[in-house]
Amino acid sequence: MKLPLLKGDIDTEIVRKALDAGIWKRRPHSLLYRYDNYLLKIFQMQKYADFFRRYFASQARREADSSTRLSALGLKSPEIYGYAVVLNPFCRYDSILLMELVEYENILSLLLRRAPKDERRERLLRIFAQNLNIFFENEVAHKDPHYGNILVTADDELVWIDNDIAPMKRCEDELRFMRKYLKKDFLSEDEARRLVDSLRCSCERERLMEIFSKSKG
Ligand SMILES: Nc1ncnc2c1ncn2[C@@H]1O[C@H](COP(=O)(O)OP(=O)(O)O)[C@@H](O)[C@H]1O
Ligand SMILES: [Mg+2]
Repeated sequence: MKLPLLKGDIDTEIVRKALDAGIWKRRPHSLLYRYDNYLLKIFQMQKYADFFRRYFASQARREADSSTRLSALGLKSPEIYGYAVVLNPFCRYDSILLMELVEYENILSLLLRRAPKDERRERLLRIFAQNLNIFFENEVAHKDPHYGNILVTADDELVWIDNDIAPMKRCEDELRFMRKYLKKDFLSEDEARRLVDSLRCSCERERLMEIFSKSKG
């Protein structure tokens, strides 16, 4: 891809090198490139709103600000090196983000799907619950909450990616945040119960368990 005309604070030399390396992952709404310890994410316009809001709240800026905020709260997320908007309004990509390329073993969804019931599985679920409690205590939610947006490092650190956060104040927000995490068939009833019981949220436990039970039909 050719480097489009950009406005923002980003090292264009690194961006150019990442682009030269070719696409690493082609996602439904983004392209990912890697170079050295850098990961470049190029966002495709998704909503009409992106056409206008790119100038003050582009997807790249929202992800950058959210990752920085989550790190400040004590969660692990990629370090942010810069972002910029694409100036040509007719380009299908609206913004770009340069961040740390995290060395990880797998995404949490795949690990949990495959992991046998052993100590590591228990540890991962315990760390996951501790991480969720940081969200609850600070009343913020991840807007795309699923196990695929959590990277697991070799020493079992969880790294939150694809970050876009929103306030989480009411029970309904908490239920929405937890919905996909509890609907997974690779979670046993026991594990779901333990997870729900360890959450410091304001919603009643039974409402959360209902999500799990309903997903089991
Ligand atoms: N900072 C990062 N370091 C290493 N790999 C990453 C990083 N960000 C994303 N990835 C890889 O790219 C995949 C998709 O990233 P994500 O940001 O979730 O894209 P999308 O918005 O398309 O869902 C992840 O599952 C992971 O494999
Ligand atoms: Mg994602």
